[in-house]
Amino acid sequence: MRVLVTGGAGFIGANFVQQTVRERPEVRVTVLDALTYAGDRTSLDPVADRVELVVGSITDAPLVDRLVGESDLVVHFAAESHNDNSLNDPSPFVQTNLVGTFTLLEAVRRHGVRFHHISTDEVYGDLPLDSPERFTPETPYNPSSPYSSTKAGSDLMVRAWVRSFDVRATISNCSNNYGPYQHIEKFIPRQITNLIDGVRPRLYGAGLNVRDWIHVEDHNAAVWSIIEKGTIGETYLIGADGETSNLEVVRTLLGIFGRDADDFDHVTDRAGHDLRYAIDASRLRTELGWSPSYTDFREGLAATVDWYREHEAWWRGAKAATEAKYAATGQ
Ligand code: NAD
Ligand code: DAU
Repeated sequence: MRVLVTGGAGFIGANFVQQTVRERPEVRVTVLDALTYAGDRTSLDPVADRVELVVGSITDAPLVDRLVGESDLVVHFAAESHNDNSLNDPSPFVQTNLVGTFTLLEAVRRHGVRFHHISTDEVYGDLPLDSPERFTPETPYNPSSPYSSTKAGSDLMVRAWVRSFDVRATISNCSNNYGPYQHIEKFIPRQITNLIDGVRPRLYGAGLNVRDWIHVEDHNAAVWSIIEKGTIGETYLIGADGETSNLEVVRTLLGIFGRDADDFDHVTDRAGHDLRYAIDASRLRTELGWSPSYTDFREGLAATVDWYREHEAWWRGAKAATEAKYAATGQ
């Protein structure tokens, strides 16, 4: 089986490629990645001899057409993925998330290739802090940020291409991932690398916002379940019952580092900051038989801390520039 993985040098994509190569010797992987600031070819080093990396953009129609034509399956991770960046400059989000997904959809349509679209729970907007409500596949789309609105638009295109052109596609909307190879602009690795440097963690606003954390390997295992057992045209929500407030995450990290529980700073809140995400993943669990392996968040976080401690060479080069960007917005 020939699989084209877009965004395979990014956080979730690189973990997907590594897991796939480890667990599925029958699969031949080609990665298409533009190597933006978020992509890193060294994230593929452990499997470099088994993977072809093509450096290019998903908006390059002739390149996409050729690579899709040589594939049996496309797993589409490539995106501009960071909400804060989308507030500073939405334009690359429109190009990659909308135009790039359109370019891929036209190619899979021409070549009749199976497509799996990776998306986010943020397309559903947010939930009140104190409610039992969770997102389901029937929740109406209500995105808040430029990032999530472009992801919502890309999901809707996938649905339309299934219905209008019989494209064989599935969609998954996952909650917040953590684990190795995540860019240090994101919440958890930013605080871990701050703590390694002896800097206090930084909480947006009061820190009461809730995210539904899932380990990246559990996300990717769910993606393979959907590819192998999912129904064409369906949307599957991926989550591991990991609801935790940002304040609790920071306090857990401070505990792992042996620091005082109040050793953090409150900084300027994110504009339009979504309050709470929570996933009802029962379709995935009951219909496809998936369940997460990482069920103890503190243990998963401690393993992630160890990974960043042991892989300083992977992240150190980006640290100063990432913090300079945050300093400019008071965060
Ligand atoms: P990331 O920012 O770490 O990686 C994105 C990758 O896409 C990078 O390697 C980058 O170089 C590449 N890329 C960007 N623009 C490109 C283009 N025009 N052409 C080709 N490659 C391009 O992102 P991530 O956190 O790994 O997210 C991957 C996917 O999963 C995204 O679609 C995101 O919306 C979705 N998602 C992420 C999370 C999360 O918690 N991180 C949760 C749910 C869904
Ligand atoms: O829910 C899935 C989404 O999760 C994905 O679609 C996105 O690609 C991914 O980036 C993530 O979005 P968030 O905006 O939730 O993640 P982020 O890591 O940026 O922030 C997580 C929470 O932590 C959020 O409430 C903002 C807060 N935060 C973030 C940073 C960087 C802080 O309090 N301090 C920080 O320094």
